[in-house]
Amino acid sequence: MKFLIVSGNPKNDGLTAAIIDEVARGARDGGAEVEILRVEKLERCHVCNGGWGECRATHKCVFGGDGFDEAQAKIKAADALALITPIYWAEISESLKGFIDRLRRCEFSFDGTGALSGKQTLIAVNAGGSGNGIITAVEQLDRFCQHTGAVIFDRLGFNRWNHDYKRPAAYAAARAIAEGRKNGESL
Ligand SMILES: Cc1cc2nc3c(=O)[nH]c(=O)nc-3n(C[C@H](O)[C@H](O)[C@H](O)COP(=O)(O)O)c2cc1C
Repeated sequence: MKFLIVSGNPKNDGLTAAIIDEVARGARDGGAEVEILRVEKLERCHVCNGGWGECRATHKCVFGGDGFDEAQAKIKAADALALITPIYWAEISESLKGFIDRLRRCEFSFDGTGALSGKQTLIAVNAGGSGNGIITAVEQLDRFCQHTGAVIFDRLGFNRWNHDYKRPAAYAAARAIAEGRKNGESL
């Protein structure tokens, strides 16, 4: 399976990068082909036509040439996703917010027929400072999944004093998805 990690992290080192590594390692060990999609260079949504742009009907952003089209194609091709971000201002990173805002307009689906419908998704957020903002950040990503039909496999909240015992959970969650565990299965 193709396992795509969507990274809202602007950094190459640190705790969020370590979480991304754990998820990638777990998914690979579970047999998945892993790719990391960085979104910090993409622009935010232009909110065309007074709110509803043509993306609603075409499922394509008219400004997609900035790399968004390619990113959207990777999302569509993936069998499973991980959404991973540092927490800034008690929310998900600005770059991940900008990306999912745009993607949601192209891929929203309430009827189970969208490109993300049924796609298993792991959420991991890192409140690496005060530890505040985990609930808000998870809720933002949760709502994106609700709007697009993505199925949340698990929600992991990290901080500076829990990552020693939570990083193994990130590895294990990604590995379980890659090995084919489905939501609703009882262990
Ligand atoms: C602008 C900014 C705002 C931040 N806001 C929060 C916050 O609300 N809560 C929190 O726990 N950490 C906050 N942090 C700390 C980041 O979450 C932290 O730098 C990062 O998660 C540490 O992980 P890293 O090693 O991946 O950078 C903030 C950091 C920055 C740069």
